[in-house]
Amino acid sequence: MSTDLTERALSVYAPSAEFAAQANAQASLYQEAEEDRDAFWAKQARRLHWHTPFSEVLDWSEAPVAKWFADGKLNVAYNCVDRHVESGHGDQVAIQWEGEPGDSRALTYSDLLAEVSKAANYLTELGMQPGDRVAIYMPMIPEAIVAMLACARLGLTHSVVFAGFSSSALRSRIDDAAAKLVITTDGQFRRGKPAPLKAAVDDAIGGDTPAPSVEHVLVVRRTGQDTPWQDGRDVWWHETVEQASDQHEAQAFDAEHPLFLLYTSGTTGKPKGIVHTSGGYLTQASYTHDVVFDHKPGKDVYWCTADIGWVTGHSYIVYGPLSNRATQVVYEGTPNSPNEHRHFEVIEKYGVTIYYTAPTLIRTFMKWGREIPDAHNLSTLRLLGTVGEPINPEAWRWYHEVFGHGRCPIVDTWWQTETGAIMISPLPGVTECKPGSAMAPLPGISVQIVDDEARTVERGATEANGYLAVDKPWPSMLRGIWGDMQRFKDTYWSRFAEQGYYFAGDGAKFDEDGAIWVLGRVDDVMNISGHRISTAEVESALVGHEAVAEAAVIGASDETTGQAIVAFVILRQGVENTGDELVADMRAAVAKDIGAIAKPRDIYVVPELPKTRSGKIMRRLLRDVAEGRELGDTSTLVDPAVVESLRQK
Ligand code: PRX
Repeated sequence: MSTDLTERALSVYAPSAEFAAQANAQASLYQEAEEDRDAFWAKQARRLHWHTPFSEVLDWSEAPVAKWFADGKLNVAYNCVDRHVESGHGDQVAIQWEGEPGDSRALTYSDLLAEVSKAANYLTELGMQPGDRVAIYMPMIPEAIVAMLACARLGLTHSVVFAGFSSSALRSRIDDAAAKLVITTDGQFRRGKPAPLKAAVDDAIGGDTPAPSVEHVLVVRRTGQDTPWQDGRDVWWHETVEQASDQHEAQAFDAEHPLFLLYTSGTTGKPKGIVHTSGGYLTQASYTHDVVFDHKPGKDVYWCTADIGWVTGHSYIVYGPLSNRATQVVYEGTPNSPNEHRHFEVIEKYGVTIYYTAPTLIRTFMKWGREIPDAHNLSTLRLLGTVGEPINPEAWRWYHEVFGHGRCPIVDTWWQTETGAIMISPLPGVTECKPGSAMAPLPGISVQIVDDEARTVERGATEANGYLAVDKPWPSMLRGIWGDMQRFKDTYWSRFAEQGYYFAGDGAKFDEDGAIWVLGRVDDVMNISGHRISTAEVESALVGHEAVAEAAVIGASDETTGQAIVAFVILRQGVENTGDELVADMRAAVAKDIGAIAKPRDIYVVPELPKTRSGKIMRRLLRDVAEGRELGDTSTLVDPAVVESLRQK
């Protein structure tokens, strides 16, 4: 590792003088934040419109539940839409939407205001009250964003569920949050073909055991396919929302009013509903979008390729960019539909200037070959970003060269569903970047890298890697886990309880220059194409299959997806191993239980799993086997011969 780090440290990429001169954030921002943190965040919060100004910045007296700007009142949707219209920018395009089949729509800020107002009026008519939960299960169409903003406008707490998740994953999230309303579409386009979506909602909430909380399902027509219908419960968007009045006055809510829940994987089989509130969340989403992406309202064309089903879509498609009056591209489909040129065509067509994506996609583009991007005019790009997993230096350099023609700064942004917004990232006009490093905490953010005893790990230490910990509260921090505050405390605040640090679950190190290298999860959470999936969730899905007695799942490194899911299963007594057929069936069981993204890349049927005397499965050894490495220490195993036989397989 040490020589590797030294080599990487040699190639440092500084912003051009030209970029630096026009950048939103200058080096003085670090100093400003350092001198008076509260004043710094208050200043950032005042970039927003407050119906009632706040007098207090941070109340940490009930740690670990923070209150930011607690006596202030604001409306999140008003900040993302109305105020831009009121300041005379109603004709500016907010969303330049590109559908997968090639249809497109442009929504100005005035259009967006009208749509959000209509939706807010209809949701009110349905009897929705502030604090009620709404599940949103939709593909990337403008109505998905409108639905989120309408919830925000009414103080309804949305819970967006990725439309690639299965009906049982949707059901458990609906039940956990006791959602009263589900907003969905008839279907979604996937690689050129319409696929049903409403049917999955029916599967989830109907049948013999209907979801007790759900009163209505509001359905947007997207694909026009035949759709199962339950009169009284189900309503079409075009027959209701679209007919509603486009006049609606936004009311103010407390800064700590819950804005959304977003379920993410933890180390157990049960996803946790991360709770985010309004004023602090929007402050940091907005501030980071401004300084990290150097966004210039009315000039830039911004494109974040995430899905609204993940936190990146919440903070950097909806709340950050819209609060900053962005003009942004929203693309419905996959990067290779109808062919591998699609993303580059979109960049060219709309003149994208800022592009934010995941390392896994960059590696996929690398695999497809540079002649594809080289066939397009990408000269409008001026800034590139990555998120979701560590980016390998090779992919970083390729991105810099092939996308950015060596001109565009790259921001490698580290953050999590729990942090709500970017925490560690270069400032594009300031930071001299090292490919593969997220570099430094943003102004206003403070982190530590510590060992098991919470002692600071030395800069440049090559032996012991540390844990990434956040030592001071930040505005967009999670406020809890929905319905389970004990789990919130145990998961994030017990490890460094004495110091009061937030435990992020990632390993990290400082190099000799103080740059931060995030090394990946230290718990049983896998990172598949930048998406979090827990080993326990996949294991429980596999064990749900009638043939499986026991399963152990690990994340093995994968050239494209970062990690890939590899499962080792033991069959029940008397079950015949039919080989590929059985494996395909097990993969289908995982897709049904969680979603296609959680399907294991490999499933090995094995006679035994390597276990310690206390019965713990030694995942480290399974990882060694899956990655074809020398086996680590096997002395604590009950039967060391087990791994050897696995390896033979
Ligand atoms: O392991 C880190 C990795 O993604 C995890 C957070 O996943 P999620 O909550 O799904 O949010 C992803 C989008 C913000 C982290 O614990 N991760 C995210 N960004 C980076 C990263 N690892 C290294 N470098 C990054 N830039």
